[in-house]
Amino acid sequence: MTVIRSAKQMALVARRLRAQGKAIGVVPTMGALHEGHASLIRAAAVRNDVVIVTIFVNPLQFGPSEDFARYPRPFTRDLRVARAAGAAIIFSPDAHELYPEGFQTTIDVGALARRWEGQRRSGHFRGVATVVTLLFELTQPTHAYFGQKDYQQARVIQQLVRDLHLPLTVHVLPTVREPNGLAMSSRNAYLSAQERAQAAVLYQALTLARARIRAGERRAQPLLASMRRLIRRAPQTRIDYLAIVDAVTLEPVSRLRRRMAILLAVRVGPTRLIDNLLVDVS
Ligand code: PAF
Repeated sequence: MTVIRSAKQMALVARRLRAQGKAIGVVPTMGALHEGHASLIRAAAVRNDVVIVTIFVNPLQFGPSEDFARYPRPFTRDLRVARAAGAAIIFSPDAHELYPEGFQTTIDVGALARRWEGQRRSGHFRGVATVVTLLFELTQPTHAYFGQKDYQQARVIQQLVRDLHLPLTVHVLPTVREPNGLAMSSRNAYLSAQERAQAAVLYQALTLARARIRAGERRAQPLLASMRRLIRRAPQTRIDYLAIVDAVTLEPVSRLRRRMAILLAVRVGPTRLIDNLLVDVS
């Protein structure tokens, strides 16, 4: 496995691989790799000749009061996880490689990026869309892999790829969960043992809604109310938002139809967690 730090070197290697007709699978990450990332890397390895994992804690997607400085950066461990899962190249640039002095261009995806996470985390999706576009440009993927855990992010990236006619396929793979249902996330490292146990209520609320939908409930409000009641039973939780939305537009609905996403953002202690489930009622 090769570690590349320079943007110029990465672009050269990727273009050479593409010229040789190789399929390149790219897994963009901010490091602190867990089983969710490993599942994306393994999926990329099955379908592509070369897998590039990018590890870059992107300052542009963090707000001033967010956790950029303390975001976990266990680089040596990340190399082991990526290698074991099938990565051939790690692209891990310093910030000045991606955003050199005088950098000005950003990507704004539009309505999809303004709701939910976008509304609470001003500039977040501009940062994500900008770095992902840069990473795609430098790594030249034929296939790129993202986790469903960040569902809105995945939709924003699908929209970006479509709008900019980028010649690659985006794959959104299922969320990998802890045994208690908690979605794997690098930020779970911030949870105390007690908070981690209470965080299980997020997935319980999602599966409760899904069970009621399967039993025939189609009204969003009662579903959201039962989720809210369940989450509030865990004393260290504070709900940021719960929503039932169209899975494509992310617009909230009052009655469920077609493919829906149940979205939530909840603080458990000081840590903000997001999760979601997709349901199809067509
Ligand atoms: O999901 C992440 O880890 C990041 O948002 C991404 C897509 C790597 C962009 O920095």
